[in-house]
Amino acid sequence: MISSLANAENDGAPIGAEEMFAMCLIIYLAGNTTTSSLVSNGLYLLAQHPDQQARLAATPEAVPNAVEELLRYESPVQWTSRLTTVDVEMYGQVVPGGSRVMMLLAAAHRDPRVFDDPNTFDVFRRPRRHLGFGDGVHRCVGAPLARLEGRVALEVIFERVPHFRLAGEPERLHISTERGLASLPLAV
Ligand code: HEM
Repeated sequence: MISSLANAENDGAPIGAEEMFAMCLIIYLAGNTTTSSLVSNGLYLLAQHPDQQARLAATPEAVPNAVEELLRYESPVQWTSRLTTVDVEMYGQVVPGGSRVMMLLAAAHRDPRVFDDPNTFDVFRRPRRHLGFGDGVHRCVGAPLARLEGRVALEVIFERVPHFRLAGEPERLHISTERGLASLPLAV
């Protein structure tokens, strides 16, 4: 990937060192703790919901749907931000151009106008189009890979371990934008 970037051109010129550094950083960081948070949040929630864990273990074809519910219910990326270029009116309020706006994706995922019973975790619900990977031009480029990683991790765990349960207090990850775990003691 870095070789492709090094050989790429932007408006006829090679990509500058600063942009190159920023691209490498975002590609490596954006795809690292986010995906492990998806898996750790998933295992934590399933350990807390043994009924759903058992049903999911018995129906592995439902795992891709469970991954979508995890992205909704415990969004690894909780918020993102933008700088407005013009005045924007929403719900009777004007956000002036030049404002930094914090967008709480995780709060949108608990919007009862969009999701029925939004505070209930249910790996068998069909989560409507959620914002776990953002939207628009900056929508996550790694979404298909992240979905694949989440699916494979859960499928392989269910293949090898019939049941798992909490074996201690998990430790949260301390990254302002992210919800995930630094450690999760489980017993199998
Ligand atoms: C569960 C895992 C993941 C989640 C929840 C996630 C979430 C997101 C979100 C919400 C955004 C939009 C940010 C914004 O609008 O400001 C984003 C952007 C991005 N993600 Fe992911 N991501 C995940 C995995 C990955 C992976 C595996 C990669 C790459 C290997 C990746 C690479 C990127 C990049 C490069 C961007 C920036 C795209 C742009 O600005 O045009 N992500 N991600």
